[in-house]
Amino acid sequence: MSEMTTDSMGATDATDAIDAMDAGPAGMVSDRDPTDAPVMIHLDGVEKIYTPGADPAVEKLTLDIHKGEILVLVGPSGCGKSTTLRLINRMIEPTSGRIIFDGEDVTDIDPNELRRRIGYVIQRIGLFPHQTIAENVGTVPRLLGWDAKRTRTRTDELLDLVGLDPSEYRDRYPKELSGGQAQRVGVARALAADPPVMLMDEPFGAVDPITRDRLQNEFLRLQAEVQKTIVFVTHDIDEAVKMGDRIAILRERSIVAQLDTPARILAYPVDDFVDDFIGSGSTLKGLHFERVSGLDIPEYPVVRRDTSREDARRLLEASDNRWLLLLDERGRPARWLNDTHLADTSRPLHEIGPVVRALVERNATLHDALEAMITSSAGQAVIVERDGTYAGVVQIELLTEVIGRMRQEARKHYERLEAAQESGASSSGSGA
Ligand SMILES: Nc1ncnc2c1ncn2[C@@H]1O[C@H](COP(=O)(O)OP(=O)(O)O)[C@@H](O)[C@H]1O
Ligand SMILES: [Mg+2]
Repeated sequence: MSEMTTDSMGATDATDAIDAMDAGPAGMVSDRDPTDAPVMIHLDGVEKIYTPGADPAVEKLTLDIHKGEILVLVGPSGCGKSTTLRLINRMIEPTSGRIIFDGEDVTDIDPNELRRRIGYVIQRIGLFPHQTIAENVGTVPRLLGWDAKRTRTRTDELLDLVGLDPSEYRDRYPKELSGGQAQRVGVARALAADPPVMLMDEPFGAVDPITRDRLQNEFLRLQAEVQKTIVFVTHDIDEAVKMGDRIAILRERSIVAQLDTPARILAYPVDDFVDDFIGSGSTLKGLHFERVSGLDIPEYPVVRRDTSREDARRLLEASDNRWLLLLDERGRPARWLNDTHLADTSRPLHEIGPVVRALVERNATLHDALEAMITSSAGQAVIVERDGTYAGVVQIELLTEVIGRMRQEARKHYERLEAAQESGASSSGSGA
């Protein structure tokens, strides 16, 4: 509801349809390794010194960006993120080093051609104020000499894609748009020539948090459809964690402090800089990356309506748990029962004990499960099948175990990397 008020002009049928799909944590869980895809952009010792004699804004940066991934560059203000992006599309030239774009050195590519192949979105996107939305979106097609009809068709298609009804918006001017709508137009403009690569510099930085969240979700959904290679810059670690297939955490002079999947960075920050930068709550954030379906759920004592009090009491005594779960006649979780409830003979069991409210489906994330648990009278969440029938109980101890396992796996991963580097270094050393 509040989304509507902050961005009411965007409430066209198309955006409503997108919002209706907003329920799940889009793009949060992925088992795909982004580095399996071929390299799209290769930065090779790229350096940028603005003022001779001054510190470099970007110091010898070597980085691969893989086809179809969202690589987020995240770091404190002034660390060189924007400079890095602008080197990639040649808005500025490197002082030294090379940038290889899809196998070609960018300095060998005609700047117009490069612009067609790399879409660019910035904060407060800088729409041209005296041009209509359609003219703004058609900027690159016009530069490329497309005819009016083709440009118009493409413009309408793009407005649709970003959730703005073309008939309503194409002839408006930028000042008639909300911040969120203007940002959508910016994304549409960047996508106009269907570039394989998008560079996005704090694209959602200038809108309110609710609109930002919504634009992020829309963008992730759009990306699932268009599968671009994206370099996304932000100073906000939460945005990085949400948007990135991989994250490069940058320190001053664009030096990579850690480059990895969000899950692994949260589970295993490699040094104090990264640890400080991701801040508190990294463990909780990490729970977004694991699903309930991946848990090894232990047995839990359940009773049914026809279970006698005697049997129920024996079951509870034999169990390590403080609560029994009572299922209804269709096998759905109904109530929690503890020994106080079992001792209360004034009413039948299915009328006493707190009603079970903390339900999660198997595809829920562990973060969802934790949230459910916190609100549960029994301090635990009940897993249900799609039809609502009982599937298991998640307890806090299980989450603690998972967190421990995530940390251990990430640590092992880094130990293997280090070992591989050492053996690589020693073998190349002995070969020389
Ligand atoms: N055009 C420029 N001329 C001189 N120095 C610049 C220029 N642009 C950026 N810088 C400097 O380069 C460093 C990195 O800036 P920038 O890439 O904008 O960082 P970020 O985007 O991470 O905030 C900063 O110290 C900034 O002052
Ligand atoms: Mg910047």
